[in-house]
Amino acid sequence: DGFSAPRLFAQGVSYTYDDVIVLPGYIDFPADAVDLSTRLSRRLPLSIPCVASPMDTVSEASMSIAMAALGGAAIVHCNDAPARQAAVIRAAKSRRIPFVTDPAFFSPSDVVPDFGQDAYALVTESGNSKSKVIGVVAKSDWESLQDKSATVSDYMRPAPELVPASYDFEKVASFLVGGGLEYAPLVAEDGEVVDLVTKEDVERIRAFPKLGMPSLDSDGRFIVGAAIGTRETDKERLEHLVKAGANVVVVDSSQGNSSYQIDMIKYAKSMYPKLDVIGGNVVTIAQAQNLIKAGADGLRVGMGSGSICTTQEVCAVGRGQATAVYKVASFAKDHDVPVIADGGISNSGHIVKALVLGASTVMMGSFLAGSSEAPGVYEYLNGHRVKKYRGMGSLEAMTKGSDARYLGDKLKLKVAQGVVGSVADKGSVLKFIPYTMQAVKQGFQDLGASSLQSARDLLHSEILRFEVRTGAAQVEGGVHGLVSYEKKFF
Ligand code: XMP
Repeated sequence: DGFSAPRLFAQGVSYTYDDVIVLPGYIDFPADAVDLSTRLSRRLPLSIPCVASPMDTVSEASMSIAMAALGGAAIVHCNDAPARQAAVIRAAKSRRIPFVTDPAFFSPSDVVPDFGQDAYALVTESGNSKSKVIGVVAKSDWESLQDKSATVSDYMRPAPELVPASYDFEKVASFLVGGGLEYAPLVAEDGEVVDLVTKEDVERIRAFPKLGMPSLDSDGRFIVGAAIGTRETDKERLEHLVKAGANVVVVDSSQGNSSYQIDMIKYAKSMYPKLDVIGGNVVTIAQAQNLIKAGADGLRVGMGSGSICTTQEVCAVGRGQATAVYKVASFAKDHDVPVIADGGISNSGHIVKALVLGASTVMMGSFLAGSSEAPGVYEYLNGHRVKKYRGMGSLEAMTKGSDARYLGDKLKLKVAQGVVGSVADKGSVLKFIPYTMQAVKQGFQDLGASSLQSARDLLHSEILRFEVRTGAAQVEGGVHGLVSYEKKFF
């Protein structure tokens, strides 16, 4: 019944996730027994198969921390000066709690504090994170002040108890709750204040589904990845990133099968033998072969499948994502190189399909860009709360520097391969990723696969069967025929 994967994908047709459907298998285990643990690259294990894209509207410190806390990972984008990218990695690696609060700092002589969204700010001797904490100012205290010309020292609260930044979330929570405290600054070993955690933060995080095994390096710090380009200057960038503690680097090109990328992979592998280097992007076996030969420890698969991509329209090059993932993953498995299915993920069903076609992880941009952990602020658009999300090949992003990914070198005329848009507010990834993973487990259960490996065994033994959906079948597979409905996922 149905088609085996080799037969389905041998017909010269480029399929994407929505084109194909997987036929159900036999269930003899509960959904909660499904193990989604995997590898990002040859030597980097993850407990969930989720990776945040190296894009400047997706992955900076807050996303990196949250994704690692969930058991996945984020790849910090390189559309920034090397020192700033390294600072983002350092910030992510200095935390043990799953969120960043980014408190404001004032000196005692400041007059009008800008609290931003926060209820509290810290007062330090010099008004920055590197000097001694001497008090806290509360927005409510400021609001009830009669004399708005008062200096911070006139109404600040006494110096709070400090918490070592090496405490994980549970330890910080019990310190705060056990001590009946409203807030506690987290202080690193060198005395720098890295965060201010409040009782509300603890209550918010505790209301989310319980986190699984976080992605930690051998020092117990969150695993964080970083993107680099293929220019000569990226060698210096790489040095900054390795010093900052990046656990893996992704060579970020839209067409990875180039002499520039091959040279960069070889350089990175020879300079930093312990560092895993992920190559890409590729969509064919020939491309994958070259990068694996160069020493790639992982491959990023996808060309033109991203929600903000216009590469296929502009350059006529690419491949349907289901076909690309299946072809590359089938080849890469024989070399023990994990594959990242990059782009085109807009629901949990797409994740199930990517994984059963052989991907070890999925990389997501738009799926994560509306979260509170993505960079940028929420805005209102036609009554919807949205965040900006832009392609790294959009003119706007390239103007900031990401042209290396799309143009390879300094071309005089810039032609965009991506767009600028916005995505809906989705709340915290700490909440919606656990629900998404639960949905993926249910998909695996329906297929009769209790782990990624068992799905792969079913795929390659041709027990797993597929069919192509017609346009009408795709319509039928979505919600249809209702006058109105509300799409609630959890
Ligand atoms: P999703 O679908 O998750 O895709 O939003 C994210 C992936 O899209 C790629 N990307 C681009 N591709 N032009 C492109 O052709 C662009 O401007 C662009 N920006 C990002 C990238 O692989 C990312 O992970």
